Amino acid sequence: MYLHGTSKVNEKNHLEIGGVDTVELAKQYGTPLYVYDVALIRERARGFRETFKRLNVSAQVAYASKAFSTIAMIQLAEEEGLSLDVVSGGELYTALQAGFPVERIHFHGNNKSYEELDMAIKNKVGCIVVDNFYELSLLEQVCLENNANAKVLLRVTPGVEAHTHDYITTGQEDSKFGFGLENGQADQAVEQALHSESLNLLGIHSHIGSQIFETTGFLLAAQKMFAKLKNWNERFNFVPKVLNLGGGFGIRYTEEDKPLPASEYVEAIIGEVKKLADELSIDIPEIWIEPGRSIVGDAGTTIYSVGSRKEVPNIRHYLAIDGGMTDNIRPALYQAKYEAVLANRVKDPIEETVSVAGKCCESGDMLIWDLPLPKANSDDMLAVFCTGAYGYSMANNYNRIPRPAVVFVENGEAQLVVQRENYEDLVRLDIPLKSKVTE
Ligand SMILES: Cc1ncc(COP(=O)(O)O)c(C=O)c1O
Repeated sequence: MYLHGTSKVNEKNHLEIGGVDTVELAKQYGTPLYVYDVALIRERARGFRETFKRLNVSAQVAYASKAFSTIAMIQLAEEEGLSLDVVSGGELYTALQAGFPVERIHFHGNNKSYEELDMAIKNKVGCIVVDNFYELSLLEQVCLENNANAKVLLRVTPGVEAHTHDYITTGQEDSKFGFGLENGQADQAVEQALHSESLNLLGIHSHIGSQIFETTGFLLAAQKMFAKLKNWNERFNFVPKVLNLGGGFGIRYTEEDKPLPASEYVEAIIGEVKKLADELSIDIPEIWIEPGRSIVGDAGTTIYSVGSRKEVPNIRHYLAIDGGMTDNIRPALYQAKYEAVLANRVKDPIEETVSVAGKCCESGDMLIWDLPLPKANSDDMLAVFCTGAYGYSMANNYNRIPRPAVVFVENGEAQLVVQRENYEDLVRLDIPLKSKVTE
């Protein structure tokens, strides 16, 4: 059994996180419940930031808020000196509500609307990561209308394929994101941005994938980008102030995953960028990265109540829990794998292998296949580890299941940071048929 961060087993044989008994949390706040280990989030954030500091390299570590965007989380990111990557008006709104410093917000997205760009410009967002030609023109228009300028990065697809699952690879040329680096689109975009009166081109951005366990992909992307920067330096006298290498740093979901410490990714990136900048005889650009999963992923644990069992003789034992693809869609979407224990009987001997089923009306709603567990029944609670990234943020109301609550724990204290939805919330936006409305 692998325990992350401050997680441990207490004298009652219960899973404890941040000094708080998760069984007590489940009693107080109900299940399913997302529990976040705040100390671990801080440690992860510091892992990236402190390496840049130690090596005296100007940098921004932007938390990719798509991984888990709530007001409390964004406030925590601010406390830890992170910058913030948002990809929609909704994520931007959350950041603004959290009081996050606008100059450290970077706005991403492959189809930002007029309204979203207008919102970003009116709120003086620090940087817009422009994804395509449509956006380049739209942003210029928005800037002109607001009599404003915008700092921009251009997102490029460097044609580097990270070693990861196909569905979550975005760095290849054939991608919905960014200007192709090899096919001439990036050259044209740079030229257009440099000629613009309202856009201030800071540099370029790439994101090569997710759950990456090696440094090679980042270095290759930097090399490809610098090959182009050389060309743009010669053609346009363009010197980048910023090089953004995106996110995608891997985490340990199961024992198959072997992530590197943050310091190793950062040291390798810095070494390569320094070398490439030297070769080009330019100052090293500020390095920006955008970790999402590696900031919050292993800090999140979901506590479920165990419900029904189904034995298929000689084949499989299904154990159902009170959540599923509504609070964690990753297994159904990406065949993602997780580890889990019984939160109330962590160290009891293993007695059987079960497959953990969600409660949604989909055969594909399976959380974990073949999980060794003590014999569990409806008095038990299951703790699924590493659900902190893309769990709550992808949560949905399929089958009209309310989304769970979120609790932060640290130093023996718990704080509710997102309330559990109730049935009234589910119908709040519904409008009855006119003929059924009674006075
Ligand atoms: C542009 C960009 N930056 C950062 C991230 C965060 O990736 P991760 O959570 O794997 O670190 C993503 C994820 O999709 C992304 O698309």
